Amino acid sequence: MSMPNLAPVPELYVSYESAQKLKVEAGDLPSWDLTPRQICDLELLMNGGFNPLKGFLNEEDYNGVVENMRLADGSLWPMPITLDVSQAFADSLEPGQDIALRDQEGVILAIMSVTDSWTPNKAREAEKVFGADDLAHPAVNYLHNEAGPVYLGGPVTGIQPPMHYDFRGRRDTPNELRAHFRKLGWRRVVAFQTRNPLHRAHQELTFRAAKEAQANLLIHPIVGMTKPGDVDHFTRVRCYEAVLDKYPAATTSMSLLSLAMRMAGPREAVWHGLIRGNHGVTHFIVGRDHAGPGKNSAGEDFYGPYDAQELYKAHEAEIGVEMVPFKHMVYVQERAQYEPADEIEEGVTVLNISGTELRRRLAEGLEIPEWFSFPEVVAELRKTRPPRAQQGFTVFLTGLSGSGKSTIANALMVKLMEMGGRPVTLLDGDVVRKHLSSELGFSKEHRDINIRRIGYVASEITKNGGIAICAPIAPYTATRRAVREMIEAYGAFCEVHVATSLEECEKRDRKGLYKLAREGKIKEFTGISDPYEVPENPELVLDTEGVDVDNCAHQVLLKLEQMGLVAG
Ligand code: PPS
Repeated sequence: MSMPNLAPVPELYVSYESAQKLKVEAGDLPSWDLTPRQICDLELLMNGGFNPLKGFLNEEDYNGVVENMRLADGSLWPMPITLDVSQAFADSLEPGQDIALRDQEGVILAIMSVTDSWTPNKAREAEKVFGADDLAHPAVNYLHNEAGPVYLGGPVTGIQPPMHYDFRGRRDTPNELRAHFRKLGWRRVVAFQTRNPLHRAHQELTFRAAKEAQANLLIHPIVGMTKPGDVDHFTRVRCYEAVLDKYPAATTSMSLLSLAMRMAGPREAVWHGLIRGNHGVTHFIVGRDHAGPGKNSAGEDFYGPYDAQELYKAHEAEIGVEMVPFKHMVYVQERAQYEPADEIEEGVTVLNISGTELRRRLAEGLEIPEWFSFPEVVAELRKTRPPRAQQGFTVFLTGLSGSGKSTIANALMVKLMEMGGRPVTLLDGDVVRKHLSSELGFSKEHRDINIRRIGYVASEITKNGGIAICAPIAPYTATRRAVREMIEAYGAFCEVHVATSLEECEKRDRKGLYKLAREGKIKEFTGISDPYEVPENPELVLDTEGVDVDNCAHQVLLKLEQMGLVAG
């Protein structure tokens, strides 16, 4: 341990000349357009961040990693790094085939020799890697609802790194960091992993960790993918930059890491340690609930608060990076300083603002005290998170055909326009099908595409501070959830179940469609010959039977008021 990191870590890139040649040759290969998460994974594979991996896991390595955190050769590796693809793409390949891996603009980043192609048991992967096959876990949800059904494995030949246009000077490959530490003569470096803005508690924790380990400090925030709903990385990096001058410059560095987190708690901590080791770090801070995914669907924590520290400790020697464990830090008013929660005697006043409380204060434009954070950080956060009543949001009405979604949506739009302040757009089911989705039918696949398009447009509107009202049937829970995630990255999402019963919709039969559906003249008709999955936790359920439209729209307005989205 505490190795001087003099030698570079192996990368998967070929020389510049070979890359130019390969790029031309790769033009003829079948190509796979990488997803944002795959781009993050590929970058760390190629630059040595995922050393000893030489490519996306083959089936044998995958099984070992899932079952006991080990590659087939026995080395420790806790996280499946897999190339998930569509069935159609997998079917089009021959064994041993080379494929080109492209970024989202079509630039070829790497060539992969596909040695393995298999259909994983995703439920097993969820249980073993994330601890539960529970869709409340963001990575389990990703596994089942975003990732393709087939995994491809095989070695990767790197042509060029993914392009980043933001904060270029602050990004470093493992070897660049190693060289940086060598240049500064840093032998001992403790890394702090974060996906949140740094507040005073974090600063105190990092100061203490550096002192305890007698090490220099690397602030190593994640700018790849974090938990859905986190503060975006642009804002966070500006926050980090704002606090950097509060650290001693001679012993502190900051570097951005394009890792796609999985929020896998204990396994993730071990993974983070290995990645940091590759970056030339000798010590790693593991705090309370490291990389925790939040609550499971029963409302309980997925992992115990110190499970990550335990698993890390058990593998510390093999990871080769010493753990600096930390308890939860809280502010002791009498002493005007932060201290670990477990070292505080009874009778003193302990102050703490949770993440949820911070978001509430930002959302409502309330005071955030100086003992909690730095004014510069709070100012940055306020820029991206103005009070809720000034943010964009989406109202998503879902329900059977003829349930009254469009009528209520129209009434709601008029009421919101009367209030003014933000532009309002109505994305009605029929209107969307005319202007955005005219080529689509009503198969599950087409309905999903339709809803994702609506979600995309609504998320853009929400991002830009407007109000989007959507009124599609949206019969599938998973798709509605995907839309929620798209929107919640930028603002609030208010799901309204227009819960008019099938009998009532059919009785009203305003468009005469139910009659046709019963006669079999319309196929795949929601409620008749196609499913409608009732929303489990919508923000509001509207019972329209015996209630007029104005009242329904008003109920939505009251809900929005309660959510702080319109001024009371
Ligand atoms: S989905 O499932 O959300 O994509 O459906 P959506 O785009 O909201 O549907 C819009 C209208 O299409 C009419 N229609 C059907 N609905 C359900 N199933 C089938 N097979 C079908 N065929 C046509 C129906 O009138 C929907 O309008 P609303 O406004 O819901 O009554």
